[in-house]
This record gives sequence, structure tokens and C-alpha cells, in this order.
Amino acid sequence: MITSGNDFGSDCAPEEMTTIDPAELLSMWIPAAGTSAPLLMALSTVGTDGYPRLRHVLLSEFAGGAVYFHTDARSAKVAEIEATPRAAASVAWPHLGRQFTLHGDVSRADSDEEKRIYAHRGRYLQLLAWLNDASMTALPESARHDAWARFDAEHPSLTPPADWVGYRIIPTVITFWRGDPEGPSQRVRFTASSDGWRTEVLPG
Ligand SMILES: Cc1cc2nc3c(=O)[nH]c(=O)nc-3n(C[C@H](O)[C@H](O)[C@H](O)COP(=O)(O)O)c2cc1C
Repeated sequence: MITSGNDFGSDCAPEEMTTIDPAELLSMWIPAAGTSAPLLMALSTVGTDGYPRLRHVLLSEFAGGAVYFHTDARSAKVAEIEATPRAAASVAWPHLGRQFTLHGDVSRADSDEEKRIYAHRGRYLQLLAWLNDASMTALPESARHDAWARFDAEHPSLTPPADWVGYRIIPTVITFWRGDPEGPSQRVRFTASSDGWRTEVLPG
């Protein structure tokens, strides 16, 4: 549910939203990697049967005009992206009254970016990247916990496993939704064109 707290819709005036560079607005809304907990992002890919697939991932960073996430190379989403390198993504902040949705083309991050983001992950997620595979899943819970504790003790410092991969979405359309406690909500849609971004103001 949308709530009208003090912060609701207060971070960017609607007029600015129509003239601002959407990359600048995303930079304002998405924290820099390592500065706070990563946002949770709904990520949709195209299944090989043509139906959309949806799950949540951490939004690792917004850099160079692209939204980055990181995952396991053996995951279904990676097979889907390799088959159809397109994705849609969305983050909502209900308490602030804002949301962005975007879609665009997907490509692999470079290895320096992957290593940098892995280093920003907390210890639990670094371990998870190593230990969240099919052989672990097949073990009973106590054996999983034992294997986890053993690996943790034996590896005080970790670098990314080979299956840790990053992807960037370069948006072709970005839509910002902003709540307004004194009136209707408003969306601003930016569509990439050869002349820059085309802007449309939309209801809803
Ligand atoms: C809070 C939360 C954060 C998650 N973060 C990630 C992530 O950053 N990367 C990832 O691959 N999966 C993440 N997952 C797990 C995915 O939602 C998903 O279950 C998994 O990646 C397998 O998806 P796939 O089979 O569609 O590829 C997260 C799940 C939750 C609930």
C-alpha cells in the first residue's frame, strides 16, 4: 500500500522529472555500489517458450548508463539472456512513492566490474556464490550446514567463483512513476532515440 509519509514524492519535483536526463535521475535513485544495501529489483527475461520469466535480484549498480545485476552462470535467467539478450526490470519504493521500470538490451559485464561488485558483497553472499549449487541442494539440511561451515572456515578471504557473472541492461525505455500526496500520480516515460531521449508525461 502507498503511504503518505514526509518523504513521499518529495525527492524530485514533477517539472524536473520531465526535463532531467533519465540517467541522472536513476543515479539519484540508485545508491552507488558499496554505499548501502543494494536495491531489490524485479527482473524479467524472455523464456525460450516466449513466456516472460520474473524473479528478484539485487541491483548491483547503475554505471555508464546501464543497470547491473549479478548471478550464477548456470541459472535459467542466463540461458534465457543468452538466447534472447533483452530484459525488463523494476524497482519500487512504496514509502517514498516512486518506481522505475525499464527495458532494454542485455550484455555481459566485464570481469573487473564483476570482481569489484563481488568484493562489495557481504560475507554471506560471497559464500552463497560459491556454495549454492545443485550438489549442495541435494544434501540434507545438516550436511548443507556442515559443508557451509567447513568452507567458511577454510576460506577466510574469497574471490568470485567462475560461475559468478554480471550483466548490464542498457535501457531503451525508462518510465519513472512518482506519487503526489496532493494530486494524482504521474509517470514520465523516456524513450531512447537517435536525438537523445524522447519524453512523454503519462497518467497512472
Ligand atoms: C532478496 C533476494 C535477493 C536475490 N538476489 C539475487 C541476485 O542478486 N542474483 C541472483 O542470481 N539471484 C538472486 N535471488 C534469487 C532469485 O530470485 C532467483 O531465485 C534465482 O536467481 C534463480 O532464478 P532463475 O532460475 O530465474 O535464473 C534473490 C532472491 C531474493 C529473494
